[in-house]
Amino acid sequence: MKRVFLREINSTNEYAKARRGLGENLLVIAERQTGGRGTKGRSFSSQKGGVYLSLLTFYKDFPALNAFQIMQGAAAAVCETLVCFGLKPKIKWANDVYVNGKKICGILIENALKGKCIASSVVGIGLNVSNELPKELVDIATTIYKETGKEIAVEEVIETLVRFLEEKNIHEKYAQYLGWLNEEVTLVIGEKETRAKLLSVDEAGGLWAEVDGEKKRFVAAEVSLRIARD
Ligand code: BTN
Repeated sequence: MKRVFLREINSTNEYAKARRGLGENLLVIAERQTGGRGTKGRSFSSQKGGVYLSLLTFYKDFPALNAFQIMQGAAAAVCETLVCFGLKPKIKWANDVYVNGKKICGILIENALKGKCIASSVVGIGLNVSNELPKELVDIATTIYKETGKEIAVEEVIETLVRFLEEKNIHEKYAQYLGWLNEEVTLVIGEKETRAKLLSVDEAGGLWAEVDGEKKRFVAAEVSLRIARD
């Protein structure tokens, strides 16, 4: 696959999306981002020393109903990568990866639809390796370096991650890494917070949880999950 390495860019997702017209798969990797984007309109701190990449992939006949497979594949690939470096990752539904209760990676997926199918997707992954974390994130986020004490080259992490991203059927591993199952968490729905017990995530990405003794389904666009240290 064609790769582009950039010293600095506002956002690798933006760069990849702007190249959708070229019609070929593309991997965009940046040393740092000046306008890294997260989910729900948030920014993503992207200082040198982390992995910031976006994978543009074109599909034929990929039903939009199966969109969650893309997220599953990306999150599972990140987890498999972290295991290779001696860590025990957990997926915090739907798109974050945590180690020891702190966020180590965020994933932002932006799909282009054609009718009921996904024509292309941009999978953006930001993984903390040895990058400095801003003050406000120090208590809630972590890096591979902080967790292992080892200075691992960003290039090594990228190569491992890309290998897993290219693996077929890796999305089936999502469930294996899904964290906080059968545990009490807080679901944040708009302004409202509800205590719930996590039960499972279905194939479409819906979260099943028990609220006041009742089994309910939640979707990531409306609800976020808060664990004790968030
Ligand atoms: C989140 O945690 O809310 C998602 C963060 C996604 C960050 C990655 S870094 C590479 C790619 N480019 C971006 O601007 N965002 C994603």
